[in-house]
Amino acid sequence: MSYPYQIKSLEQYHQVYRESIENPEAFWTTIAEHFRWKQNPERTLQWNFKDPEVKWFEGGTLNITENCLDRWAETQPHTAALIWESNDPEEHHRILSYKELLFKVNQFSNVLKNNGAKKGDRICIYMPMVPELAIAVLACARIGAIHSVVFGGFSAQSIADRINDAQCNIVITADGGYRGNKEIPLKNVIDDALVQCPSVQRVIVLTRTRIPVSMIKGRDTWWEDEIRKVETSGNPFVQAEEMKAEDPLFILYTSGSTGKPKGVVHSCAGYMIYTNYTFVNVFQYQPGELHFCTADIGWITGHSYILYGPLSAGATSLMFEGIPTWPDAGRFWDIVDKFKVNILYTAPTAIRSLMVFGTELIDRHDLSSLKVLGSVGEPINEEAWHWFDQHIGKGRCPIVDTWWQTETGGIMISNLAGITPQKPAHATYPLPGVQPILVDEQGNKIPGGDASALVLPSETISGNLCIQFPWPSIIRTTYGDHERCRTTYFSTYDHLYFTGDGCLRDAEGNYRITGRVDDVLNVSGHRIGTAEVENAINMHTGVVESAIVGYPHDIKGQGIYAYVIFNGHIPDKNLVAQDIHQTVSRIIGAIAKPDKIQFVSALPKTRSGKIMRRILRKIAEGDVDNLGDISTLFDPAVVEEIKMNRL
Ligand code: WTA
Repeated sequence: MSYPYQIKSLEQYHQVYRESIENPEAFWTTIAEHFRWKQNPERTLQWNFKDPEVKWFEGGTLNITENCLDRWAETQPHTAALIWESNDPEEHHRILSYKELLFKVNQFSNVLKNNGAKKGDRICIYMPMVPELAIAVLACARIGAIHSVVFGGFSAQSIADRINDAQCNIVITADGGYRGNKEIPLKNVIDDALVQCPSVQRVIVLTRTRIPVSMIKGRDTWWEDEIRKVETSGNPFVQAEEMKAEDPLFILYTSGSTGKPKGVVHSCAGYMIYTNYTFVNVFQYQPGELHFCTADIGWITGHSYILYGPLSAGATSLMFEGIPTWPDAGRFWDIVDKFKVNILYTAPTAIRSLMVFGTELIDRHDLSSLKVLGSVGEPINEEAWHWFDQHIGKGRCPIVDTWWQTETGGIMISNLAGITPQKPAHATYPLPGVQPILVDEQGNKIPGGDASALVLPSETISGNLCIQFPWPSIIRTTYGDHERCRTTYFSTYDHLYFTGDGCLRDAEGNYRITGRVDDVLNVSGHRIGTAEVENAINMHTGVVESAIVGYPHDIKGQGIYAYVIFNGHIPDKNLVAQDIHQTVSRIIGAIAKPDKIQFVSALPKTRSGKIMRRILRKIAEGDVDNLGDISTLFDPAVVEEIKMNRL
């Protein structure tokens, strides 16, 4: 097996890129021929960014699991599809060949059907990083149900919001999960969520930790019991549902600048083709290699580069249940040596958190199996880049800095490992088919910012990053609210998809993403909306008002700084801060807890009552002498107070 569409030289990249711009339809039609269709597509692309409406491969029908499982189970049944490493280094790892994974997905597809699941149903998955999570996701796809995976760190309230927004009828969960030395309850959290979720009729619960759980008669059932029922009823094969190219494959909720998370919807065919194409090209995957993406399947990176991208390419994907620092900070390196990992794809936060432990643990490892390193989720600072290169890659592994988003489905701007040039802290060139463009605040095109024009800027330029042409895995809608999709992504600038990111482009054509320009924070690679955190803090009885900004954080990239107006006397600041933490954990989840809480008597506002976040941001960053013009403030004196009590 080889990948005929894998780009093998810089020259070829330039040529393929040009072709993909000049004739995108012909380009993607050729790529689409490498997949298993039930009916071939009739029309490659129909689109406008005004409504927006984007349709790829119309007339085509398929099932993504036939592309991820059946075709490999036929040609390479004994190749490992998934290798799973437990949180506990003493627990035996598990290997699932393509044949075994297909069998298990069929079994669980039957379980879902036995529990009333049908094509088009929405199914919420709230599980630890165990193989059954992958099986559950793929089984949904096989029967045409739309999965909505919710990351295990979200609170009951967040889960309830997501379940209600999508009107899920089934929840798949586990009793609990392991993370480092902690046992995390999951079913109990689901029980709290379901008090508010009348649409849910069935909860399927996997046994993982044996933590006590309450199983409600008529609603809750054990995963293992359900599998047993299927086992006794003979051949578990389930005909994969015939899906239209544009049928939704999944919903994944992500934070934006408003208070409510959005359900990003991805389609069956376009998403499959794009994640496969980018997996094969960015990482330069060769058959037989082992790919280790350290993300959680609760985020888009896990969806695209643990599951759908690698499996659709017949690759071997490693899935790790635990955390990089347990039992010690050498865990990733243990795993690399144990399984001879070839590709390691991780986040700058993980790299920075491991840097502080020095190199002693690393030196005890071989790491010579590594061929390619990758970074995703947030800007990687040069120091972390060089550390990764020197200590992990030993100066001989290309590093791909991959820029993309939940909404883009797959990698958009990145070097191709060992093929196109890398530059520390730069995502570099767009993938074929991707047409980035930089615009100013008014939407004017910045000369030299348009990759498709094939003209380089004479010096480094800066602007807001937009994409001017659809790619196959572009967001199709925000679930249940298409207008929100339009206003969030397609209305800021006419005829452009706006990413929300600021970006530079140097004279060699390299793009460098500098971070969000909207009210979204990126904390440890997790997207967190400031409005969402403010709403949560404001739920606390004593809080009158709050404002959230980000500030540079050595490990997390960005930390959360909260300015809080509290009602009346504060007897003990620490206690109140803890109460606020607890409130945020309850409403959103522990990942959104502020790193710093400063109590203030007022917030800097304009005369029209708008909070001047720019000032709060500068103070949080420690840049107190450069606040700029504050004369438009209603009460400039509050700035002095806030500056004085800065944490
Ligand atoms: C940021 C994660 C710089 C960016 C796949 C984007 C990055 C947001 C990079 C999306 C990168 C992601 N360099 N910034 N290589 N990759 N980002 O939806 O701000 O969780 O808009 O998707 O992460 O986060 P999301």
